[in-house]
Amino acid sequence: MSYNLLKGKKGIIFGALDENSIAWKTALRVHEEGGQFVLTNAPIAMRMGNIKDLAEKTGSEIIPADATSVDDLDNLVDKAMEILGGKLDFVLHSIGMSVNVRKGNHYTEMNYDYTTKGWDVSAVSFHKTMQSLYKKDAMNEWGSIMALSYIAAQKVFPDYNDMADNKAYLESIARSFGYFFGKEKKVRVNTISQSPTPTTAGQGVKGFDGFIAYADEMSPLGNATGMDCANYIITLFSDLTKRVTLQNLFNDGGFSNMGVSQQVMEAFVKGKEN
Ligand code: NAI
Repeated sequence: MSYNLLKGKKGIIFGALDENSIAWKTALRVHEEGGQFVLTNAPIAMRMGNIKDLAEKTGSEIIPADATSVDDLDNLVDKAMEILGGKLDFVLHSIGMSVNVRKGNHYTEMNYDYTTKGWDVSAVSFHKTMQSLYKKDAMNEWGSIMALSYIAAQKVFPDYNDMADNKAYLESIARSFGYFFGKEKKVRVNTISQSPTPTTAGQGVKGFDGFIAYADEMSPLGNATGMDCANYIITLFSDLTKRVTLQNLFNDGGFSNMGVSQQVMEAFVKGKEN
């Protein structure tokens, strides 16, 4: 259902790779709500995914950018304003990648070149994006900038590996830059901490199937889906949430405040008996 919540609003959406991507679902919902945007992803992802289908469906243009490259980001922001005909109202950073996770390196056996690459892609890219937007004065007042996080930033999930540290870094950047964006430009900056979601990035985490089933049984409302996340993002891009900023907002069916649930306890006891 559409409420026209984003009518007349313009922005940039990073990270739509395929139909499962949270950014993909968000792009479809933003389009439905009347928003216009430019899609962007790393040049290599253009060849792997099918972002062109999404661009056609939503009447948007694609501007490739490696989110670790300041030059690419500067070009992206300039081009987006040119194409959309003015300053921006929303930006979604939906990017994450750990080389240590990809290569199967245990947390206690890290390759630090990979660690550096991982935090650059997953966290510092958010700072670089905001710095480019800030310097170019590219955001309209009461605009909204969002990134996506995971609860491993606060609590231990051993198989999440160095992505846990990357998410802690990302959330901190949201608060720190959010202060300046709020003070100087009246723009809000938040992160959504999302339930485990079956996407390319999600499924890269070791033991993901167990992970997602456990979270689902722990959460009184069950796991939030990618579409639930897209809908939450719409509210945070809309004028209904103008003074929500510097927050890490849990979209997780209640998981983050649970100790244990009846189902998880029963499964545990059953496992012990067998
Ligand atoms: P996805 O794999 O569909 O999206 C990740 C995107 O990051 C891809 O489009 C990829 O091309 C892009 N990317 C990687 N390196 C890049 C670079 N150098 N420059 C530009 N883009 C680059 O997976 P998903 O799950 O939609 O991920 C979106 C965000 O949601 C990520 O920040 C992820 O950590 C976060 N998240 C995902 C959860 C899950 O279980 N899937 C749970 C909580 C947060």
